[in-house]
Amino acid sequence: MAAIELSGVVKHFGPIAAVNGLDLEVPEGICLGLLGPNGAGKSTTMRLLTGQAIADAGELRVLGHGLPSDSKAARLEMGVVPQLDNLDVDVTVEDNLAVYARLYRVEDVGAAVDRCLDLARLRDRRRDAVDELSGGMRRRLLLARGLVHEPRLVLLDEPTVGLDPQIRTEIWTLIGELKSRGTTILISTHYIEEAERLADEVAVMTHGKVISRGRPADLIAEHAGRQTAEVYAPPQRLAELRASVEAEGLKVRPAGPAIAIVGSERAAAGVVPEDAVVRAATLEDVFVLLTGEEAE
Ligand SMILES: Nc1ncnc2c1ncn2[C@@H]1O[C@H](COP(=O)(O)OP(=O)(O)O)[C@@H](O)[C@H]1O
Ligand SMILES: [Mg+2]
Repeated sequence: MAAIELSGVVKHFGPIAAVNGLDLEVPEGICLGLLGPNGAGKSTTMRLLTGQAIADAGELRVLGHGLPSDSKAARLEMGVVPQLDNLDVDVTVEDNLAVYARLYRVEDVGAAVDRCLDLARLRDRRRDAVDELSGGMRRRLLLARGLVHEPRLVLLDEPTVGLDPQIRTEIWTLIGELKSRGTTILISTHYIEEAERLADEVAVMTHGKVISRGRPADLIAEHAGRQTAEVYAPPQRLAELRASVEAEGLKVRPAGPAIAIVGSERAAAGVVPEDAVVRAATLEDVFVLLTGEEAE
């Protein structure tokens, strides 16, 4: 049994198809990165999984529980870390954890709180008010709170969006520790680097469905190739070059002020200009080719 099994899932908001025929299977024990641009339907997918939204069509199973009929049981077995900080600022760090431990019917609340304090590295701040914590500490607490009942499955919706690079790295470390314990993780992100660092497999999502899925290295080999050649030049020359390179059957993508010739190792002699900067193909090349969006 896979931890998450979605097939043909559809969710409309009025005329908008936020999720539009989504198939997604997440086997137990992996970290799956749901990588897609803003508006792809990632958060809606997460909300369907937690029972906060009800699908219009399709089959949804989480840890063997059918949704929405069995969503309460599913919810008790999963950990959810929201994108927005909704910690209770009126109570202490340890009480934030204790409230969730009781909500999830944890037997030994004290032990669960201590475990989470260690995980979040906040043992010496346990009696402080939440609003005395730094931004990084709050994020660590938010993550630890979602793990208070030691869930087998954790949903992380854009866990580092808008955070400073240093805090982002701290959160990645915590997620890495969770991974190494064998917890199944579904993490949505629009940051390529986050997916590259954390995900065993990536599902590229756009317009409400998954359009490609695989290990990052396999996706790169399949969609990009081995090498990418970037050319920096005035717009007129780039436009001409793009046309001639595409006429040779190669893929080209924008890359800020440059264009990137993807799979340049397959180009015939003379097609890639001599002043091109050749580098290894990346997941970013794949993301931009598949979604048509410039990466962040
Ligand atoms: N509650 C809602 N009401 C109306 N439209 C929504 C609602 N939630 C999401 N949408 C729309 O559905 C699409 C997918 O949104 P979302 O799932 O939030 O994408 P993502 O998380 O990938 O950025 C977007 O076009 C968004 O505007
Ligand atoms: Mg979102």
